[in-house]
Amino acid sequence: MAKILIVYYSRKGENYWNGGLKNISKGNTERVAEFIQKAVGGDLFEVETVKPYSESYMTCIEEAKAELRAKARPEIKAFPENFDDYDTIFVGYPNWWGTMPMCMFTLLEKYDFSDKTVIPFCTNEGSGMGGSERDLKKLCVGATVKQGLAIHGAESAESESKVAAWAKKSV
Ligand SMILES: Cc1cc2nc3c(=O)[nH]c(=O)nc-3n(C[C@H](O)[C@H](O)[C@H](O)COP(=O)(O)O)c2cc1C
Repeated sequence: MAKILIVYYSRKGENYWNGGLKNISKGNTERVAEFIQKAVGGDLFEVETVKPYSESYMTCIEEAKAELRAKARPEIKAFPENFDDYDTIFVGYPNWWGTMPMCMFTLLEKYDFSDKTVIPFCTNEGSGMGGSERDLKKLCVGATVKQGLAIHGAESAESESKVAAWAKKSV
């Protein structure tokens, strides 16, 4: 049976929510990651940056834009252990400026993806997966990248059945 890793970045705090701002105590992508684990099992790993992004949405927007422009690789607190043991890797993130937060680039660049299957998932407020799948394919050299799932962030708490059906079909 495939050994599954679900690795994700998700930000708590003030976020864009159906056209307004809302403070959330659990990130949208984290919710989806947990639904995947419930559906197909596997190990969960949350990516955390050494320097946290601002809890203020407007400040975070600017931080993220600056990192994207600079092609930054923000330091992360830890990397998943025994990465080589996993053959199926769900990679989850919020859509930030049309792609993944740059800390996901820090993570994904570190590994050899030969013979691994990568399954992306993304939460967003309208832009779907953006260009993230193209960026993932560049970063995960050697991987088979399967069709990703985009979930509207504000509906993430109600997305369990959709997420479970997609996750089961993907592994
Ligand atoms: C810095 C930043 C940039 C964002 N850029 C986009 C975007 O380009 N397109 C979009 O649809 N949503 C964008 N959003 C909204 C998030 O993708 C959405 O709220 C997501 O569900 C947040 O997930 P999280 O709670 O797991 O961090 C952005 C949010 C932030 C904080």
